[in-house]
Order: sequence, then C-alpha cells, then structure tokens
Amino acid sequence: MKKIAVLTSGGDAPGMNAAIRAVVRTGLDKGLTVMGIQRGFSGLINGEIFQMERRSVSDIIQRGGTILRTARSDEFRTEAGQKKAATILNTFGIDGLVVIGGDGSFHGAQALSKYGIKTIGIPGTIDNDLAYTDFTIGFDTSVNTVLDAINKLRDTSTSHERVSVIEVMGRNCGDIALYSGLAGGAESVIIPEKGYNSNELCKMILEGKLRGKMHNLIIVAEGVGGANEIAQKIEEVTGIGARATVLGHIQRGGSPTANDRILASRLGYRAVELLIEGKSSTVVGVRGGKVIDMDINEALAMEAKFDEELYLIGEALSY
Ligand code: F6P
Repeated sequence: MKKIAVLTSGGDAPGMNAAIRAVVRTGLDKGLTVMGIQRGFSGLINGEIFQMERRSVSDIIQRGGTILRTARSDEFRTEAGQKKAATILNTFGIDGLVVIGGDGSFHGAQALSKYGIKTIGIPGTIDNDLAYTDFTIGFDTSVNTVLDAINKLRDTSTSHERVSVIEVMGRNCGDIALYSGLAGGAESVIIPEKGYNSNELCKMILEGKLRGKMHNLIIVAEGVGGANEIAQKIEEVTGIGARATVLGHIQRGGSPTANDRILASRLGYRAVELLIEGKSSTVVGVRGGKVIDMDINEALAMEAKFDEELYLIGEALSY
C-alpha cells in the first residue's frame, strides 16, 4: 500500500471533516501518499483528484460539512460508471480507498472492491441507521442540534399551553427522534420502529392536560409522517392549539460535538491501519465503546437495531 484516497459521499454529516483529517494525517504519518477525491463517486468518475498534505486538513476539525464536498451520483450506480471509477483509480495509482458515508456509499465501496480496489468504509451519516455500529459520525451533533430546538420550542409551548410537534430527520430510522426526545424530555416520540395510533396520541395529550401539563412536545421521525398533518389532527381532535416545526437540513450542519470528533478521529485512524494491513471490503465502527471492523457485506446485511430500553425509559419519564 503506497497511495490511498479518501472521499465523502451521500448526505454530509458533522464530523466528516474530522474523519478526513484523521485519514490524511494517519496516512502521511505512515509514509503513504494521500489523495483527496472531490464530490464523492461523481467526482471520482470525473477524475477530480488531488494530492493532500498535512496542511490540507488544517483548521477543519471543528467545521461541519465536508471540505471534499459530496454528491449522489446516478452514473456511479451503473456498472459502466463503476468500471470507469475503478479505471480512474488505477490510472492514478491508488491502491486503497476510504469511503466516508452512509449505506448507499458503502454499496459504492462494495461495488468498487469487485474491481480489485481495496476499500474501507467509515460510517458518516446523521441517521445512525447502520446496524453494525452503535453510532455513526454526525449523529451526536445532530441530536444536540435537535435538542437545542426542543429546548426553545418548550419555552413557547409552555407559554401558550400548546402542543409542539417537531419533525426530525433519520430516513427510516427513529434514532434522532428517540435520543433527542429522551434528552429533551418530550412527552411522546413517534418513530417508524414503533408506529403510532393517532387516537391514543390525542388521548395521551388530553390526559396530560388534566394532570396539569403546560406543554406537550411530540417528536416525529420523518420516516413516520409529516408533522403538519399530525399537528392539525391533534388540534381538531383535542381542541388544544398545536404547531408543527420541521427542522430539516439544519440537522446536518454545525460544528461537530466532541463525541463526533473523537469517533471520527478513531475511525479514520483505524481505517488507514486496516488498508496497511491489506484489508479490503471492510467497514469500521464502534461497539460497546471499542473500535471494531467487519466485512462490508455482513455489515450491510445486518438487521436494523433498535434500543427498546431507551424507548421505554422515555415513556416512563414523560408521564
Ligand atoms: O441521510 C441523511 C439525510 O439527512 C436523511 O436524514 C434525510 O432523509 C436525507 O438525508 C435528506 O436528503 P437530501 O439532503 O438529499 O434532501
């Protein structure tokens, strides 16, 4: 292993820059040449590749987004596109590729490894929807962003004695809602893993009012449905004022938390070590606080995880 490259792909996530920095500096520290690929697999196909030095990653550990930019490429989804990408990597003499992204990006890495490219995946997505790792880079920052919004919405919800329905991201995974809801003391967390019954929800809100609750914070994961419709229904059925807030892409930005920077640094370092050890088609992650690695096919085939205990704790404490 002499020359490696790094790219970020799919939706950006806070901490991706810290991961890029870790990959570049570990590679250089171990005597490798490190190349950066811009705009994910799309940039790879277009040969947007440049050499990175220590100073290329100065001053980025605290920055959200990704200095390498990111993209979703339709061409790369085709076999011809993947072949072209592999040829470009060979032309540049790149022996190993680190892909930072979510499951779609890992499928890209998996595809390239079929052409003999050594690939390592680092989980970078706010969604925390990769079953093989306890946490993905960006998730913690995103949860804290949502928490900040919940704290603010709680103020106005209490003042007006209204219901506040807050829609968060996560695709089909309810983790952002689950964790931010527990941390924010939400009355209810609606997630795809559990579904919900709108009559039960309205009953719970009315009962809470009778017990003297001044506000009602309902966190809805985008995978379940729209906050606007839910708020409208609540107002119709309960007669209590309800407002919806869709947090949207604000959840993808901002300076990464310490947890995300540390996770990114540990995983970036390990990814390069694995390439040097000759590993390929592998993903890195964290389980029980320890850095782990796993075959990419096995990791992608794992069933979605769900922390039932957290959900039950949230229910018990919101009463
Ligand atoms: O995967 C990250 C994510 O932010 C999801 O939570 C969300 O569903 C999706 O990306 C939004 O994608 P886009 O940025 O393309 O609108």
